Amino acid sequence: MKNEVVRYLTGITTTGTPHLGNYVGAIRPAVQASRRPGTENFYFLADYHALIKCDEPARIQRSTLEIAACWLAAGLDPDRVFFYRQSDIPEVTELTWLLTCVTGKGVLNRAHAYKAQVDKNTAAGVDVDTDVTMGLFMYPVLMAADILLYKAHKVPVGRDQIQHLEMARDMAQSFNHLYGEHLVLPEAEVDESVALLPGLDGRKMSKSYDNVIGLFAPREQVRKSIFSIVTDSRAPGEPKDTEGSSLFQIYQAFATPGETRKLREAYAAGISWADAKQMLFERIDAEIGPMRARYEHLVGHPDELERILQAGAAKARERARPLLRELREAVGLRNLASAAAGAKKDKAKQALPSFKQYRESDGLFYFKFVDAQGRLLLQSTGFASPKEAGQCIAALKAAGAVAAGTPAQPAPGVSEEQVAAALRELTET
Ligand code: TRP
Repeated sequence: MKNEVVRYLTGITTTGTPHLGNYVGAIRPAVQASRRPGTENFYFLADYHALIKCDEPARIQRSTLEIAACWLAAGLDPDRVFFYRQSDIPEVTELTWLLTCVTGKGVLNRAHAYKAQVDKNTAAGVDVDTDVTMGLFMYPVLMAADILLYKAHKVPVGRDQIQHLEMARDMAQSFNHLYGEHLVLPEAEVDESVALLPGLDGRKMSKSYDNVIGLFAPREQVRKSIFSIVTDSRAPGEPKDTEGSSLFQIYQAFATPGETRKLREAYAAGISWADAKQMLFERIDAEIGPMRARYEHLVGHPDELERILQAGAAKARERARPLLRELREAVGLRNLASAAAGAKKDKAKQALPSFKQYRESDGLFYFKFVDAQGRLLLQSTGFASPKEAGQCIAALKAAGAVAAGTPAQPAPGVSEEQVAAALRELTET
């Protein structure tokens, strides 16, 4: 993939209000990553996904507003990235259906979130389908559509989403197998270096534990939250342990190594918990404070936010529309006036030998050459890039035969003459 842009894509489900854990774990690294040269970055508000978990319209709307404002206040530049709302892109639901039709029910039966609900129902002795909507069941298909629609290469996610990425790859592969190479197989990117932020009680900071510090909560409330972080009962003057101290870990997520070293020394020297909390408050406020005005402005001017999101949707749809046009054509949802021509084209294609390129789980790129009936004629070895595989195919077509040293072998029982004949058949039509 040298010289080629790498596309990154992440969705943010619009339930809830961002907290410091979201900021450190997702928002801050994403905003930094969006500035890398040679990349295109897609960030979207996954409000269709939100409907699966939440049936309160006001909450969906408020959360969309707050999350959009947070990302922009944190420095995301909508002119440099694709920043849009999922439900503004009708192509997402269209692609969801096309993928639904190539996805085995058995695959979705294995999805963690769905299985967890089934297990819960089984344990409770109620019907296995209790509280299982088709939204929950189809969650991975909608997510695959989000990703495949923009031909994203990399999807930065938490560990819990890896299975969804595997499913998205599966769906892309099934589609490509049936209709030709239209979709790019995405990869999950799990960043191990991103700190998991502890919450007020020492467990992972999470809305479901009610232990969060709001990202743009009023300053006084942030201070109050910080002063409620659980510590041990060591008195001022007594040395304190940094090990297992959430206060220390949160500080570290915001501080430079030098600042962290100073706090470590202060712990050893017996700083009081109150002073340490004050230091943490000031450190966080130094980073978040300057963003607060922008956040409050945007939340107070939803029309401005709406315009930004509409512009983002227009930009995203410029990518989505041509792909959907291509996919509709590929599956046969076609203008009837061109149907005769299309059918002829399909038939001609079916009656010819063809090259098929694909990627294996070893990360290498392969091709095979099959005859009109789909019988394997030639199998390549692995290439480092799709481009190299393509060059080898071009060389085979040009030569009309398997030359010595070609990194491809006739299949068992297939002679070099048969391969050459098929190559001629292909190139002469
Ligand atoms: N499922 C993701 C989460 O819960 C949100 C999401 C929806 C997403 N669509 C996506 C993430 C596409 C990455 C790519 O965090």
